[in-house]
Amino acid sequence: MTFSNKILHWYSENKRSLPWRTTTHPYNIWLSEIMLQQTKVAQGVPYYIKFVKQFPTVFDLADASEEEVLKLWQGLGYYSRARNLHFTAKKIVKEYNGHFPETYEGLMKLKGVGDYTASAIASISFNQPEPVVDGNVYRVLSRYFGIDIPINVSRGISYFKNLARKVLSHENIRDYNQGIMEFGAIQCTPKKPFCLSCPLNEKCVAFQTNSIEKYPVKLKKGDIKKRFFNYLVVLDDDGKTHLIKRTGKDIWHNLYEFPLLETPEEISVNEIKHRLPEILTLQEPQHVYQSSDKIIVHKLSHQHLYTKFWIVKTKDRLPNGLSSKELDKYPVPVLIEEFIKTLKNSYF
Ligand code: ADE
Repeated sequence: MTFSNKILHWYSENKRSLPWRTTTHPYNIWLSEIMLQQTKVAQGVPYYIKFVKQFPTVFDLADASEEEVLKLWQGLGYYSRARNLHFTAKKIVKEYNGHFPETYEGLMKLKGVGDYTASAIASISFNQPEPVVDGNVYRVLSRYFGIDIPINVSRGISYFKNLARKVLSHENIRDYNQGIMEFGAIQCTPKKPFCLSCPLNEKCVAFQTNSIEKYPVKLKKGDIKKRFFNYLVVLDDDGKTHLIKRTGKDIWHNLYEFPLLETPEEISVNEIKHRLPEILTLQEPQHVYQSSDKIIVHKLSHQHLYTKFWIVKTKDRLPNGLSSKELDKYPVPVLIEEFIKTLKNSYF
């Protein structure tokens, strides 16, 4: 039996009946998945019930005041999640006529919706073959397949996402995704997992090699340095921009990037404007804004780069400015490559 069939079989026999499992409506799935990032299933249930009672549809949530939403959220913590929830409900009503996007990519555009939530909604509500990867999934996959790549570094994150995609069920993605999370929560628990009664133990590398405690491997927090990168993406009237070669003893030696202002912590648009002359020599007044309100956390093995891209529009003609096509000729880190794709879609 394949891994995914074993999970599906286990799920059919062990799944809990939970209030959001009686529907696939994206509003309910979105709500429950956002809440479950905040708390365990048992503690999440009463919050979910209260929310759908007071706001049965996305229209009701959009109509609520922020105070009402925060009040119902009270106790769950991380209140920006609640504010994002409210913001996105209003957006869904105003800009999407109350309909959620049906694809992973479309869902990713919503505030507060990241890789995990987009995959959960796309699969559970719209039957799309998108693998969810949460803490449970990391644990289950790392143990079963014996993968010792740290789960909190970029190589691990992409390795596990690829593995999750490779082993998912195409027949029943809804139950498979919920099943692997449920299996992690109930059977393959972080401490003292129930290996002796586990129907997957025969092929489980961690169990067979007596090394359950080893997985999942995580790099210690203290080993990871936080850095704050502010990239200044200058755009002139011809749509040309600048890249600079990185030199010196640091990451990405000899690769190219946009002009960079590194700071000890996150900084505001006003500070960026104030410090522009340290990095750029532009004459004409400039219009400066953040390209997206999301901060990008790019994870390298021993450092996390908290990155913002700032668009700096200038009337100056950039000497040696690069067109969008010319940008592709330069070797750049993945972080920059990804942003160049965004840039091409939205600015060029
Ligand atoms: N944890 C978060 N979302 C879940 C779901 N839909 N099923 C099981 N466990 C979960």
